[in-house]
Amino acid sequence: MLGRELTRLLASRDDAETTALGSRDCDITDRAAVESLIMRIRPEVIINCAAYTAVDAAEDAPGAADTLNHLAPAYIAAATRKAGALLIHVSTDYVFDGRATTPYTEGDPTAPLGIYGTTKLLGEKAVMESGCRYAIVRTQWLYSSIGKNFMLTMLRLFETKQGIAVVNDQTGSPTYAADLANALTSIALGFAEGQEGVYHFSNAGSCTWYDFAISIAALHATPCEIRPIATADYPTKATRPRYSVLSKEKISATFGISVPHWRDGLKRCFEALTADSQ
Ligand SMILES: NC(=O)c1ccc[n+]([C@@H]2O[C@H](COP(=O)([O-])OP(=O)(O)OC[C@H]3O[C@@H](n4cnc5c(N)ncnc54)[C@H](OP(=O)(O)O)[C@@H]3O)[C@@H](O)[C@H]2O)c1
Repeated sequence: MLGRELTRLLASRDDAETTALGSRDCDITDRAAVESLIMRIRPEVIINCAAYTAVDAAEDAPGAADTLNHLAPAYIAAATRKAGALLIHVSTDYVFDGRATTPYTEGDPTAPLGIYGTTKLLGEKAVMESGCRYAIVRTQWLYSSIGKNFMLTMLRLFETKQGIAVVNDQTGSPTYAADLANALTSIALGFAEGQEGVYHFSNAGSCTWYDFAISIAALHATPCEIRPIATADYPTKATRPRYSVLSKEKISATFGISVPHWRDGLKRCFEALTADSQ
């Protein structure tokens, strides 16, 4: 999802030559393939959007999640170093346990609750320890007019169900993948010496999944009834953080990146959805 948004954004700009690669072009768990590809293309910046993102499935596949979220970033980082490039690596709010009550800063202690968060955190550490130039960008609650995500799932359910129940005790910031793509592009084009580090990016404001579903319904004008429920009433294999709002002060101050409100992102995503379907 993010990779496609980024590709779409970069294709519309003429200040960056881009090579967009999917899993069929390169298996990032193949160390030799990663190195030979990067040494052949010799990019100035590499943005890694690939990951094992099936949060619940990861609980039953820790080895596969570790290979993709921990070892593969290590391979990419090693090749990035060899090529003298910059690596922008995408990570997650699931590195936190969700016990905070105010937005998480980059320096807050990490304590992942499940395999996905644990392996993504190991991936972050591998990038940091690789010796390459890097920016790690943690994000959350991504959605887009393309790919598999909560917003598109809601739209499908609105068409097929008379009523649905949505969790109302997990708080975060729904983030339009196009806004994250824009932030990653700003880092790629503006990165300077001494800016290595971890950064947080999500849309501004916060809400629960239930609030988000209500806002999607308002734009879609559905008769489907949406009912708030507790996490305890919707058990999942992996435990999610109850609160994972991210502070965006560092990324704004360092790169001058603006952070649109999630409601504004949602409106623009609906416009993109309409444009995509025409
Ligand atoms: N989605 C969210 O809400 C969310 C929240 C926080 C952080 N993030 C992070 O944001 C980033 C992007 O997430 P996303 O939702 O856009 O992910 P996504 O839609 O699940 O895409 C993951 C991509 O990884 C590719 N991939 C899987 N195995 C691969 C391999 N061995 N070699 C090369 N590519 C491989 C997949 O290709 P195939 O489809 O061909 O397998 C797919 O294109 C990830 O780092 C994720 O951890 C996402």
